[in-house]
Amino acid sequence: MKKIVYFFIATLALASVAYAAESQIWGEMRIPNILGYGQEQSLKLGEFFTLWQGHYITTIFLGILILIPTVFGIHYLIIGPKTFSHEGKKILAFSLYSRIVHQIAAISFIVIVPTGFIMVFGSFFGGGEFVRICKDLHGVFTIPFAIVVIPMFLMWVKDMFIHLDDIKWLIIVGGYLSKVKNPVPAGRFNAGQKTWYWLATLGGIVMIATGATMFFMDFDIAMVKNITGLSQIDTLRAAAILHNLVGFAVVILFFVHIYMAVFAIKGAVQSIITGYMEEEEVKILHSSWYRKLKKQGKV
Ligand code: HEM
Repeated sequence: MKKIVYFFIATLALASVAYAAESQIWGEMRIPNILGYGQEQSLKLGEFFTLWQGHYITTIFLGILILIPTVFGIHYLIIGPKTFSHEGKKILAFSLYSRIVHQIAAISFIVIVPTGFIMVFGSFFGGGEFVRICKDLHGVFTIPFAIVVIPMFLMWVKDMFIHLDDIKWLIIVGGYLSKVKNPVPAGRFNAGQKTWYWLATLGGIVMIATGATMFFMDFDIAMVKNITGLSQIDTLRAAAILHNLVGFAVVILFFVHIYMAVFAIKGAVQSIITGYMEEEEVKILHSSWYRKLKKQGKV
């Protein structure tokens, strides 16, 4: 029951923000609302915004697209994937509810991330109908993610707080720079997974808010002006800059997440499909959690 309430609250929150926008979204008020460069009320973000959006963004995203897969390709060729026996006991790691929430986020991102890249390289893709369709898909597939981001935050938050194990894990990069399967200091989630969790959820909320700001463009919410003191043009520029900055981190860790889940640990992806992890995988990659389960007589 509680979980259905979480979904209901998330949907209601979304609907009320859209309603409060008093927007003539694609209406004739779009241009008069936008102040020109350097005019009164402007934070003079114009010049920086043009430089940032015009030059840095594409270069940095191109760097991410080339560098991250290259680094993982080298890791896969030199160190290779960790393999664990499938003969041992199966340990329930993900409930049906958490898998449903996760899969909705996963499907959203499978559309949101590529369409985001196509928008960044819009001129390369001809900047026409195709890019406009991708912009709409980018917006529409944000909705299911916006509905599950709070339930995802709430369902895992208690296991995501920092622990001494995390420091030790970071020092040895989770044991992923070695072929040897030594037990790794980690609880239910390791430091890498916790970093992705906080970025995917809290960073995800920033991406939704800044994305909605740009998507609805000429919204006129007095509250935002009163709180931030920002003119509409500066709110849009600040939203674009923040969306790309947080976007860098989200995209990098999303690629890391997929590499870890699909390539670096053979068969790991099964755990988010069936809910079960192999006993040896837990014993090695989540050694503190394994000891705890042993003490509780659960393995
Ligand atoms: C699209 C491809 C995706 C795949 C293949 C995938 C796969 C997985 C797998 C296998 C796990 C379990 C890891 C373990 O063994 O403990 C997992 C956990 C998780 N996933 Fe995903 N996932 C995807 C997308 C996403 C997205 C889009 C988000 C959030 C926006 C997300 C957030 C998480 C979080 C927070 C966890 C728990 C912590 C972790 O293991 O990193 N995943 N995912």
